[in-house]
Amino acid sequence: MKKNKISPVILLIFFVGLISCEDKKPSDLTKENIIPKPVSITATGEYFTIHPETEITYQDKWTDLKPVSEYLAEKLRPATGFKLEVKALSQLPPAGIFLEIVGDQIVPEDESYEIHITKALLKLSAKSPAGLIRGIQTVRQILPAQIEFQEKQKGPWMIATGKITDKPEYSYRGAMLDVARHFFSVRDVKRFIDLISYYKINTLHLHLTDDQGWRIEIKSWPKLAEYGGTTKVGGGPGGYYTQDQYTEIVNYAKMVYVTIIPEVDMPGHTNAALSAYGELNCDGKARRIYTGKDVGFSTLCTRKKVTCKFVEAVIKELAALTPGPYIHIGGDESHATRKEEYAPFINQVLGIVKAQGKIMIGWDEISQANIKSGSIAQYWANSKNAATAVKKGAKIIMSPARKMYLDMKYDSLTRIGQNWAAYIDIDSSYSWDPATFATGISRENIIGVEAPLWTETITNIEDIEYMVFPRLPGIAEIGWTPAKNREWKEYRERLAGHSEHFKTMGVNYYPSKLIPWPSEKK
Ligand code: ACM
Repeated sequence: MKKNKISPVILLIFFVGLISCEDKKPSDLTKENIIPKPVSITATGEYFTIHPETEITYQDKWTDLKPVSEYLAEKLRPATGFKLEVKALSQLPPAGIFLEIVGDQIVPEDESYEIHITKALLKLSAKSPAGLIRGIQTVRQILPAQIEFQEKQKGPWMIATGKITDKPEYSYRGAMLDVARHFFSVRDVKRFIDLISYYKINTLHLHLTDDQGWRIEIKSWPKLAEYGGTTKVGGGPGGYYTQDQYTEIVNYAKMVYVTIIPEVDMPGHTNAALSAYGELNCDGKARRIYTGKDVGFSTLCTRKKVTCKFVEAVIKELAALTPGPYIHIGGDESHATRKEEYAPFINQVLGIVKAQGKIMIGWDEISQANIKSGSIAQYWANSKNAATAVKKGAKIIMSPARKMYLDMKYDSLTRIGQNWAAYIDIDSSYSWDPATFATGISRENIIGVEAPLWTETITNIEDIEYMVFPRLPGIAEIGWTPAKNREWKEYRERLAGHSEHFKTMGVNYYPSKLIPWPSEKK
């Protein structure tokens, strides 16, 4: 190229740049790339701007709205560099951002919300603080993606005007993190909560114990964590959460109305416990610590009295740490448990969970027991098990492995993960309907969906993000948006448009070839 001539390519880039700067001015709310897709959006063709004097105000009669308003301010302050003062008000202000509860009382389980945006005012209305938090995630997504940067950006911070009315299809929208095969720090779990709550996921199931590690302090049985938590898959140091650390996680999740569900898997998947306390084995001998990946070889000695005492003590401490309604007791792949002892054991555990005032969840195998209405079976492998649970009156969480297991590889080239259930690329993960997926399980039996991430091959937060993104936003949409409003071809475009937010949030996502990503990350 000759020196002083401006290349046509550079000129083109310059003009495209000008056009995309113009495009920054939003004018059509219906064109925003929101995940999960809201129920209804109407546009009024103007725009609202957050500026240095903007205040975030909330109805003064609800003290619960203060932390919610503070949460929004904290999300917007770093990138805007604005003060965004939070104030209680007795009436609707003429300008700024206003959060309100509609009706005379808070309806905690109602997550619906409405956002009404005019040139001067952005009003967020809901029937509960949880609804306001879900609406705040939408506000974050309709702002320029730069809003997620942690350093001050130039702006401007404009939002197209109009109205969004939204509510979830399913009340239970979950993700599961296996902290047993590999242990993840409190900081990693908080990052995970930040990311899932951004997509309106409202439940985090922590798989706290397995053959390779026991990750929660139980004060009355201290060796469970102290010894049973020493290592991990492949060997090397493990770890566990003290009860204080665990409470820190629970409280962090509570801020964004995410319920933590603790799982202590039993009677199988218990080698860590069996290595810490010999008396839990039928022969009374402690097992060796296990760092492999096999499943189905361990079992508590279900007929021993001490086992019942152990289960009671563990569930009691766990229930005391759990403000949410659920305790997950595992129950899967108990191939080493005597067949005739499995169902009576689960029945016994159900009684213990109920006595603590909690609802029992178990993997679909628990349908062999005498579960009743009020219990929940999590469908992962066997639809007949899940259909049996339905017949017994239980509700279902849908987590079919070949659609929802986030540890499954995307394709044969994926560096980490497994493939025993399927290769799951974004289209397969997104394009299905929980209500029609399995015979004997229909819409009214299902409380929602949950995407589990097992961590045999996953060792750090970057790997977690790579397997979770971009599948989880699609799964969140399956839980939130009615099936009739979801369509793969439209979703892949919307996901591409939304992906700028992955970048500004620093998410390490898998750049699937199925998505028309807008920029260099192909
Ligand atoms: C499971 O994947 N074993 C529930």
